[in-house]
Amino acid sequence: MDIPKLVWNSVEATDLIKNGKPVVLLDCPLSIPVANRWTNEFLASVISPEYLCDIYVSDSKRFQYWDSKRNTAYNFTAPTMKESMTFTEFNQCVMGNSKIIESSNETKSKSLKNYYLQQAVVVEMGPKMMEEYMRFSLEAALKFKVEGGWDSFSTNLLLVGSAGYITPCHYDEQQNLFAQINGIKRVRLFPPSAWKRLYTYPYNHPCDRQTRVILPVIPGSSLLDNEIDRFNFPFFQSDCNENTSEYFIDLQPGEVLYIPQYWFHQMEGLTDNISLSWWFKDQTKHSNKTQIDLSSVSMIALRRNIENLISSTVGNQKKAHEFFLAMAANRIPITRPIDIEVSSIFIKSTILNSNQENHNEQFYFPHASDVEAAKDIFIEESWSDLLAQAIKIAGMVVGNQAQNFLQELVAGRFNNLPLV
Ligand code: OGA
Ligand code: FE
Repeated sequence: MDIPKLVWNSVEATDLIKNGKPVVLLDCPLSIPVANRWTNEFLASVISPEYLCDIYVSDSKRFQYWDSKRNTAYNFTAPTMKESMTFTEFNQCVMGNSKIIESSNETKSKSLKNYYLQQAVVVEMGPKMMEEYMRFSLEAALKFKVEGGWDSFSTNLLLVGSAGYITPCHYDEQQNLFAQINGIKRVRLFPPSAWKRLYTYPYNHPCDRQTRVILPVIPGSSLLDNEIDRFNFPFFQSDCNENTSEYFIDLQPGEVLYIPQYWFHQMEGLTDNISLSWWFKDQTKHSNKTQIDLSSVSMIALRRNIENLISSTVGNQKKAHEFFLAMAANRIPITRPIDIEVSSIFIKSTILNSNQENHNEQFYFPHASDVEAAKDIFIEESWSDLLAQAIKIAGMVVGNQAQNFLQELVAGRFNNLPLV
């Protein structure tokens, strides 16, 4: 599906932003003033020659984000390394690579490293770079923040990458105005409702917020999905409908894409390119509203909270992983009735009655791979109570859909992840 392209301060664009829908903003002063002006050479001339930038180094052209603080239970090899170097050194690394590519096709397939600069623009980069930064209209950023009902501006991120580089599919927990400054970036977007199709890594995994489904990159047409691993990720296709399907855009210099919080996105450099992300915090997290606003509280935020809550109760991350596998396979019995009281909309319902016969027979039929993955797991007695509590908490927001909600939370997500 296409994303609408609208003049940045038009009423139509503002409406989309207010409603948390993606839009490409044209003529926007958060990109236009430096579009095509910033190049690798130009940035090297304005950023202080002493300033050390964060560079991600990868053997492949995929730059998968990972969080080293979440590496306790999973057997995981870091896909990228972080290095510090000046902008000029960075340019030399990038240029060095293109020279090698030109001179020999054989070296190309060997141990070429790839370098992706991902660094916030900060005062320490010196007065010339600050002069550049002041070209942006920060009033425009403020207008979006106010109209979108967002919280404070959190950070920017300058991204300088080469043709073919990919940031794999993930979501961020913040609102993002993504400014394309030089070259072309293909952005593939999925709404938060595509959650089940994309199989995010567990909350405790270093690849938290990233999808386990690997989207194939097909030159000219990213939309083909015939290389998707359909066996391990069956919902990618079976759960595809008009609410869960993909949007995409080839973002040109000067264009700014609004990526709403929790929308999945994959970025692919179609040419060498420069972008700048403007991130804003999510107001819903800080609001002191007394009622739960179902339309704006993202379901993904709720899933994250519940997953985190369960993990921290179970004892250790390995056990938590097993709990979720068992839950996906529907192997945790619910042994007492659960009253659900939905405080904001005053619904009270009993979702499971212990007098009922076959109280283990729930309305969810797990996928065969989940059943297989969980077949040898020892079910601890305390897990029944924990599951009941999780259903109760989820029920406060989604009412008697709580059980479906939890099953969707875990289905297929915890299989085949090697533990240590
Ligand atoms: C982002 C993002 C990655 C990239 O801005 O949120 O994921 O490669 N960017 O541009
Ligand atoms: Fe992102």
